[in-house]
Amino acid sequence: MVEIRALKESDRGHLRALELFCIREYLEASMNKNWDNLPQDLMDQLGASSKGSFDHYLDKGLCYVAVEDGQIVGFAFSQMIEHVNNVAKVLWIESMAVHPDHRRKGIGYKLLKKLSTEAKKKGAKAVQSIIMPDLVSSVMLHKKLGFFMDGRKVAFLDLDSMQ
Ligand SMILES: CC(C)(COP(=O)(O)OP(=O)(O)OC[C@H]1O[C@@H](n2cnc3c(N)ncnc32)[C@H](O)[C@@H]1OP(=O)(O)O)[C@@H](O)C(=O)NCCC(=O)NCCS
Repeated sequence: MVEIRALKESDRGHLRALELFCIREYLEASMNKNWDNLPQDLMDQLGASSKGSFDHYLDKGLCYVAVEDGQIVGFAFSQMIEHVNNVAKVLWIESMAVHPDHRRKGIGYKLLKKLSTEAKKKGAKAVQSIIMPDLVSSVMLHKKLGFFMDGRKVAFLDLDSMQ
């Protein structure tokens, strides 16, 4: 039986391993990127469980893990942001995944539902979630909960490298 519970400090190591495992799976399958060729400093920065992000999410985020037989098998990192697209309080989901051995058992759905329910209790009016449009599982999961997708994509500018 899977338990969905709030993120805690002691999850750090297992969560890092699981998130990196899922990022690697995505990069190798979708972008033909060879994981072993990625520079270590880039790898260290990937994901919401990275050193620079975990503490912030633990402290200020709305984050849950799915635990089965004492093992973390899924996770979701999100945080509340103020006023986007004319909506005063929006939950923004940065990262979620379920270990491949535990997929299609309803865990992703439970995580996303939990985030949305807790965000609503805290006054959020909407949820925005970063998804990979080429990942059918991710798109279908969000659709099952009632998310809609228009043509928008997120554009990102690294201000440290801006001329
Ligand atoms: C997306 C992901 C989190 C879904 O987790 P999951 O626990 O397998 O999802 P669930 O079992 O709760 O599935 C819920 C619904 O999503 C849809 N879905 C999930 N995986 C699917 C797939 N491979 N193909 C089609 N629909 C799928 C189905 O509608 C499913 O409901 P159903 O089983 O009643 O048909 C998981 O596939 C994953 O970790 N993928 C890699 C990382 C990723 O894509 N993260 C999301 C970025 S936002």
